[in-house]
Amino acid sequence: MQLSLIVAMTRDGVIGLGGELPWRLPADLKRFKALTMGHHLIMGRKTWDSLGRPLPGRISIVLKRLASPYDYDFYDEETGLPRPLYQGQGFPKAGEPADWMPVAFVHDLDSALRLSEFDDSPFVIGGGEIYAQTLPRVERMYVTWVEAELAGDTRFPDWNPANWELVAEERHSADAKNEYDYTFATYHRR
Ligand SMILES: NC(=O)c1ccc[n+]([C@@H]2O[C@H](COP(=O)([O-])OP(=O)(O)OC[C@H]3O[C@@H](n4cnc5c(N)ncnc54)[C@H](OP(=O)(O)O)[C@@H]3O)[C@@H](O)[C@H]2O)c1
Repeated sequence: MQLSLIVAMTRDGVIGLGGELPWRLPADLKRFKALTMGHHLIMGRKTWDSLGRPLPGRISIVLKRLASPYDYDFYDEETGLPRPLYQGQGFPKAGEPADWMPVAFVHDLDSALRLSEFDDSPFVIGGGEIYAQTLPRVERMYVTWVEAELAGDTRFPDWNPANWELVAEERHSADAKNEYDYTFATYHRR
């Protein structure tokens, strides 16, 4: 398992405003879907709230501090395996029908990582609090640089580019659908 992280941010680290994304970039959402399909997504409760639904074809693992009776978990606590409803289906693979959307609520980061340990590339998908706690364990970062100066109330944590090798970079211009220029970049930890 190699932990990956995926984020869209401005060059000065803005990732969110008022619980939402401060831009409209469908091309970024498309790349997010393509990269994460079939994998585990590790996210904070506020990001879960902003998504408002599980993402099809992926396994959502939501971090929240307090348990509540409304939490549900598709893993059997005793065996650690998916519950019978999901047994036999196996883990979704990239490109498979997008109707598989299990969710697990967990209360600490180690549990989130344990649930995704058999995934070759689980993705940390935010937000700010979760990026900050997971960054030391992340091996690959998929960044969409939003080429605009925008106000925000949530930021990506400080990171040292010297520790990361830029292995791919693709620049795109704003168009009728995407309101700002953006750059897709992939970094591997050195
Ligand atoms: N640009 C991007 O790529 C991107 C990606 C994702 C999100 N965002 C944006 O980021 C913002 C949300 O980020 P955020 O930093 O405010 O919140 P967040 O990281 O999404 O969620 C924070 C919550 O996660 C839970 N949590 C944090 N650490 C935990 C731990 N160690 N164990 C258990 N639970 C833990 C807590 O939930 P409880 O309060 O329930 O205990 C905490 O309030 C939104 O604006 C969203 O749109 C942007």
